[in-house]
Amino acid sequence: MTEAIPRRETRETLPITRERPFDPPDELGRWREEATVRRMTYADGHEGWVVTGYAAARAILADPRFSNRPELLHSPFPNRPIRREDLERMPPGFFIRMDPPEHTRYRKLLTGQFTVRRMKLLEPRIAEIVADHLDAMERHGPPVDLVPTFALPIPSLVICELLGVPYGDRERFQRDSATLLNLETPLDDAQAALDDLFAYLHELVLRKSTEQGDDLLSGLISAGELTDREIAGMGLLLLIAGHETTANMLGLGTFALLCDPAQLTVMRDDPGSVENAVEELMRYLSVVHLGPIRAALEDVEIDGRLIRAGESVLLSLPLVNRDPERFADPTVLDLARSAQGHLGFGHGVHQCLGQQLARAEMRIAFPALLRRFPGLRLAVPPEEVPMRAAMAIYGVHRLPVAW
Ligand code: HEM
Repeated sequence: MTEAIPRRETRETLPITRERPFDPPDELGRWREEATVRRMTYADGHEGWVVTGYAAARAILADPRFSNRPELLHSPFPNRPIRREDLERMPPGFFIRMDPPEHTRYRKLLTGQFTVRRMKLLEPRIAEIVADHLDAMERHGPPVDLVPTFALPIPSLVICELLGVPYGDRERFQRDSATLLNLETPLDDAQAALDDLFAYLHELVLRKSTEQGDDLLSGLISAGELTDREIAGMGLLLLIAGHETTANMLGLGTFALLCDPAQLTVMRDDPGSVENAVEELMRYLSVVHLGPIRAALEDVEIDGRLIRAGESVLLSLPLVNRDPERFADPTVLDLARSAQGHLGFGHGVHQCLGQQLARAEMRIAFPALLRRFPGLRLAVPPEEVPMRAAMAIYGVHRLPVAW
């Protein structure tokens, strides 16, 4: 008797090796041609799904039958299994990992702080921070690594000022978040980094309870609705999400523009295009490149495939944002197009809380950098720029530039 041959598509793990720095793995593109909702094997052997089609991803992100609770999820990453003991140590208030109504309760306390209007008020301060860093680059002279001089410190300082976290403590929280976001970090080290960050924020919140300032964490303390541990957990989420993501958009975005002089000119010389330009960079680069992941709470049919209750679904944002059904010529970076509707900030109840802040930072920082240094260029061949393939947020580790 011939043995049943397992279907080819059920035994493959997520392809993560990229052939070119700005494009997702070619293999994932082939998967999308097979099916926009496709079987994939997770690191623990779970047979779940990967979604590469725009419409399917958007539908899942908006569907309350899909959960974000970590105890229901499977991990596609071999070094990052989900362990019960870690779940018990998950910081309270870490609402990105909760479903409504628990999620809603925390998120509601913050939405007023991140509106377009509030972010507009921050713009002059962001511009000042950007200018200070450009001055420092100019004083230093070429070549410089753009990551520690520009891409990382600007969003880091902005989120610190907003939250009321002393920027002088950055070495500790930047190191911890880098450890945490490195998918190759052994699990115990990642958990230790999370514990350390939480301990740091908890001490800070306790200190602020007696000497409050005019900042977001102090505001949450005086509102009196949350415990100090919950506020620390929310602060932890905002601190990580608020600097690593934007930092990588600034680093990777500058690299992409330096490799495409015509697009660089649009960003530098056409202030009327900057809004579109930033959305297009978000779409084209999709730095949240290995997720988000959800678990089905009940059987759901999407794009003709039956996702069963309990199965995990990884939404590949780089593929989704390059779905030819949704965006014409999706592999082309075209800053003049309208990329609105891209899912680079997610969608649904978990859609990025800080997106208006990130947009303000990018709209100010990219043109300011390119105008200050009109001769900006890579100081190494493009293939020598080290890419963050194994990090939860994609980008460049270093970006040596000259002018
Ligand atoms: C370019 C920069 C950024 C990108 C690409 C980005 C991307 C994302 C994405 C894709 C999600 C959805 C995750 C999911 O559905 O599971 C998300 C959620 C979130 N982001 Fe951002 N983000 C950026 C900047 C920021 C900033 C500056 C903040 C700071 C305040 C922030 C705070 C958050 C928070 C708190 C959530 C969780 C929201 C929730 O669960 O309700 N993000 N972000």
